This record gives sequence, C-alpha cells and structure tokens, in this order.
Amino acid sequence: MTSNTVTKAVIPAAGLGTRFLPATKATPKEMLPVVDTPAIQLVVEEAASAGLTDVLMVTGRNKRPLEDHFDRAAELEVLLEAKGDVARLDLVRRSTDLASVHYVRQGEPRGLGHAVLCAAAHVGDQPFAVLLGDDLIDERDPLLKQMIDIRHSRGGSVIALMEVPADQIHLYGCAAVAPIAGEHSDIVQVLDLVEKPPAAEAPSNLAIIGRYVLDPAVFGVLERTEPGRGGEIQLTDALQVLASSPDAGGVTGVIFRGRRYDTGDRLSYLQAVVQLAAQREDLGPDFTKWLKSFVATL
Ligand code: UTP
Repeated sequence: MTSNTVTKAVIPAAGLGTRFLPATKATPKEMLPVVDTPAIQLVVEEAASAGLTDVLMVTGRNKRPLEDHFDRAAELEVLLEAKGDVARLDLVRRSTDLASVHYVRQGEPRGLGHAVLCAAAHVGDQPFAVLLGDDLIDERDPLLKQMIDIRHSRGGSVIALMEVPADQIHLYGCAAVAPIAGEHSDIVQVLDLVEKPPAAEAPSNLAIIGRYVLDPAVFGVLERTEPGRGGEIQLTDALQVLASSPDAGGVTGVIFRGRRYDTGDRLSYLQAVVQLAAQREDLGPDFTKWLKSFVATL
C-alpha cells in the first residue's frame, strides 16, 4: 500500500552545467558557492527544515566533490579542534550532520525526468520531494513544508509555480491552471503543462520552479516517457500525464509569492549571491557599504 507520508528528498545533481563552464568542468554546478556555502547544502538544509532527513542525490561523473562535502573531513576537523576554532569546526561539521545522504549514479545525463527515475528503487512506493539546486527558497518562506501538507490533504503530486514576466516564460515549464473550490486562490488545479513555450503559445505566466512533491506513480509514467525537448526525458512531460490522470491523484500547483533566488545561469547567479550577501548579518553591513560606493562609480 502506498504510504501518504513524505520522508525522502531527491536532489538531481547530474546535469552537465554547461552554462557555467569552465567552473563545472570537474565540479557539479550544485557545488558552486552561494557566498560561502555550496547551493546543494542550502537545498539539503531546506529539505531537513521541512522534516526530510533522508536525501538521495542523483549524481553524474563528477560526484566526488558532493560526496566529500557531505562526509566527515577528519584531517580538517582535527586541525580546527587543535586550534580551538569551534566556529569553523561547526561549519565543517554542519553539512555532515544535516541528513542521511545517499547517492545514485545517473550514468548519462538523459534529462531531469530520467534523473528522477534513477531514484525509483531508493524511494519505493511513497510520495517524495524533489529539490533543484538551481532555485533557492528563502528559509523565511517555508514552501516545501506547505507542499508536503498539500500532498497530505489532497494526495497526488504538488508542484511549485511562480508568476514570471511574459518575456521570460520561454525559459521555464509553464502551467495552465484552474481554481479549486474551497481552496485559497494560490492553490490551483494543474490542467496542462508545456516545457519552455514561446511567449505567444504560453497558457499562463505561471512558471514551474524547482520544488516538487511527487506521487510514486510518476516512476511508471517516466519509464514510458520518450525524450522530448532537447532530446531529454523531461519531468514536465511526465507531470503533464499525471495532471490528466485522476487515478494518480492529479497535480496541484502552489503559487509561491515568497523569496526565491535563481542560480541557474550566470547573471541570475550573480544577482542571488549579491542579494544573499547583502542580507547576511556578518558580511552584509560591510558588503552593502562597499556595494553602494561601487555602484556610484558605474
Ligand atoms: P538543468 O537543465 O538546469 O541543468 O537541469 P544542466 O543540464 O546541468 O544545465 P545546463 O543547461 O547544461 O547549464 C536542472 C537540474 O536537473 C539536473 C541538473 O543537475 C539540475 O540540478 N539534471 C539535469 C540531472 O540531474 N540530470 C540530467 O540529465 C539533467
């Protein structure tokens, strides 16, 4: 019997990260630092805050830095302990203590849908979360927890949507939605999904962002999903099938209006780092002061 409890998080990190070459030649893009913390650690912290401490990373050929980051660093810990540098010791240990992290290899980067399918054996017959390191959600806006609650109350799969300007919708998966009687207007029924539509063909301005709570029925659908856009097995295509399958519980969308930082391409990554650095208690005041004087010289 399918359990309704969400306990596992899947983090796909096997993409080639071509938009960040050469940084991603030997390192997964999920390891790129956001100020001083790899994006993937922030994502694992988010999963853990939502109560998901069993994390499966889907890795590619450069999995070593990921494994090392979530493993103990004995030499470094001994050195910091000897120095009595407790603050840095805590920083080094934090990523190890966050969650129980498991790994599965994707083999070939055949698309996000294929990466999720690689999680089937680990996840089994229960709903699970998928978090992409391209999107960082501010810890003050607990989106994932809300999505898990919606899965518990409505069943099926839950995706996160965000309003984007019309000239940007071609960068995202896009959802056609309808209101649900009795629900808040930000919780909607997903009727149809299109991956990266031209603005003129987009059914809405609602873009899919990188948080999902999926029914295990997605695995059977992914097995039958042919390569789509870009020759890749697209998660959006499988979700579109689920959206029209009442048997699998359909797909509910949550329109997220909180703080999201996009790190998927170079420009948005730079913007995210600046925003997050400016908000930091330790670095923010000095950084902002410098930033203002720098901007004045432009
Ligand atoms: P992206 O399309 O943003 O990642 O996939 P990418 O392919 O690495 O990036 P570019 O376009 O070449 O720069 C979204 C997420 O899905 C993962 C990526 O690691 C990223 O977290 N992914 C993508 C996989 O795990 N496997 C794949 O085959 C494709």
